Amino acid sequence: METPYQNHIDKADFDHVYEPAEDSFLLIDALEKDLQYLKSKNPIFCLEVGSGSGVVITALGMAFPHTFCLSTDVNLKACAMTKQTAAYNKVNLDSCNMDLASSFTDNIFDVIIFNPPYVVTDSEECGGSDITASWAGGAKGREITDRLLNMIPKKLANNGVFYLLLIEENIPDEVVQIMNGFGFKSETVIKRKVRNEQQLVLKFYK
Ligand SMILES: C[S@@+](CC[C@H](N)C(=O)[O-])C[C@H]1O[C@@H](n2cnc3c(N)ncnc32)[C@H](O)[C@@H]1O
Repeated sequence: METPYQNHIDKADFDHVYEPAEDSFLLIDALEKDLQYLKSKNPIFCLEVGSGSGVVITALGMAFPHTFCLSTDVNLKACAMTKQTAAYNKVNLDSCNMDLASSFTDNIFDVIIFNPPYVVTDSEECGGSDITASWAGGAKGREITDRLLNMIPKKLANNGVFYLLLIEENIPDEVVQIMNGFGFKSETVIKRKVRNEQQLVLKFYK
C-alpha cells in the first residue's frame, strides 16, 4: 500500500489534530498485510472512526479506488484535514463530525478501522473534542473503544471486518471476549513494540 501524500499539511495544524505516528503506520501495515483477504471481500463502504489527519483511510482508499470511504472524528479540525488528505490523494471520501459511528445506517460497512485514544487516563480527561481526544482513553484506555465495540454489531455488514489498534494496557484479551460475546471471531494481524509500548492490531469478523 502506498503512503498518502501529506505535504499539504501545515506542521502547526498538528497542534490541533493527531500527527500520524507509529500506531497510524502499524494500522496501515496491518491493512497491507491483509490486502488479499480484503480484496476477497470486495469492499464497497469503508469507514475509519477517529480519522485524525486521514492518512489511514486515505491509504485504504488508494488501495481500493472503487470503494466509497467515510470517516468520522469528534474533532472538527480533524474532519477538515481528513477531507484534504483524501482530496490530495484523489480518494473518494466524505468526512463527518460525529461521535464514533453513531449516526450511520445500520449494517452498511464492509470495513471499519479504528486507532482509538488508547492511553490510560482519568475518566474526566476523556471525552473531549480537541487534541486531548487523540490520546485520552480513560479507564484501561478503553472508555472510547468499548463504546464503539457495542456499536460494531449494528454498523458492520454481515460479511464485514473490523480492525482495531490496541496496546497491552488496554487488555486485548478482554476486548476479544467482548467481541466473542457479540459472535465475532478474532485474530491478531500484527504486533510491534514501539519504545515501551506494545502495539497490536486485532481484526474481528463473523
Ligand atoms: C490516536 S488518534 C488516531 C488518528 C488517526 N486515525 C491516525 O491513526 O493517525 C484518535 C482519533 O480519534 C478521534 N476520536 C476520539 N474520540 C472520538 C469519538 N468519540 N468519535 C470520533 N472520533 C474520536 C480523535 O479526535 C483522534 O483524531
